[in-house]
Amino acid sequence: MIVITGASGQLGQLVITELLKKTAASNIVAAVRNVGKAQHLAALGVQVREADYGRPETLDQAFVGAEKILLISSNELGQRVAQHRNVIDAAKRAGVKLLAYTSVLRADTSVLGLAEEHRATEADIRASGLPHALLRNGWYLENYSEHLEPVLAHGAVLGAAGQGRISAAARVDYAAAAAAVLTAQSTPESVYELAGETAFTLTELAAEVARQSGKEIVYNDMPEAQYKSVLLEIGVPEAMAQLLSDSDAGAKQGDLEGSGAALRALIGRPTATLADALKAALKH
Ligand SMILES: NC(=O)c1ccc[n+]([C@@H]2O[C@H](COP(=O)([O-])OP(=O)(O)OC[C@H]3O[C@@H](n4cnc5c(N)ncnc54)[C@H](OP(=O)(O)O)[C@@H]3O)[C@@H](O)[C@H]2O)c1
Repeated sequence: MIVITGASGQLGQLVITELLKKTAASNIVAAVRNVGKAQHLAALGVQVREADYGRPETLDQAFVGAEKILLISSNELGQRVAQHRNVIDAAKRAGVKLLAYTSVLRADTSVLGLAEEHRATEADIRASGLPHALLRNGWYLENYSEHLEPVLAHGAVLGAAGQGRISAAARVDYAAAAAAVLTAQSTPESVYELAGETAFTLTELAAEVARQSGKEIVYNDMPEAQYKSVLLEIGVPEAMAQLLSDSDAGAKQGDLEGSGAALRALIGRPTATLADALKAALKH
């Protein structure tokens, strides 16, 4: 039995879809915080079980019969280390043969602020002694393609990433990679550095949006602190403004650039490009 936590999230739902291409629905458990939000997953034939990272008793129930677990990192910044520790402890009690975890690109050396919690969870996973696979995912293409409205409205991409290159990949490609690792016949690697094959700068992002939309779009680069102030001014909450500006500063130093080779090898096809993602988003 393969259990996916955070299965009601955007990545989790795609992992379930990708797993269904490789194994029977009866072999899959969608573990979710809110069972009411996962009826569409139950309709696919997979078992839906309650699993709240903050309530260990739900995790023990959710992991009954689990052979492999994918821990999808929580989106509750600041609480993730303790939440993930609950999942790791429950996975240990369940005696799973593989614990996979969605981490961040080069978590061990990344200067991104958000890498800190991932580093701590990776250390907890290693300390657990469980066989594991760290899926160190790079940035999502959707971080850009799903936020085009203000770009089109104001004719500008704002950021602090300078000319740093970003090897973003589509969520569906990271999901397919997770499904491949979870269903592999051979023992998975312990660390996968996963990124898109075609990197781009934010200047190139602006140029591609301009090309596809027919509008004039520029990239307005600014210092990290100024970018954070602008985000706060337009109503972005403090924690998110901090994360976005800090991540851009990391991108400027190359922390979101990586090789797409491992992701391509796992999914067995070229990774989706920025142009693909923008084309799909601009259709809507
Ligand atoms: N690589 C990137 O560019 C990038 C970007 C954003 C996030 N991420 C990371 O990747 C993860 C997956 O991405 P995503 O796009 O699927 O994010 P998402 O749509 O926000 O999904 C996050 C999932 O975490 C679940 N969750 C949060 N707190 C929980 C708790 N206490 N117990 C159980 N589940 C809990 C959420 O449950 P509900 O459905 O009940 O809310 C949701 O299913 C994120 O959580 C974040 O850690 C990566």
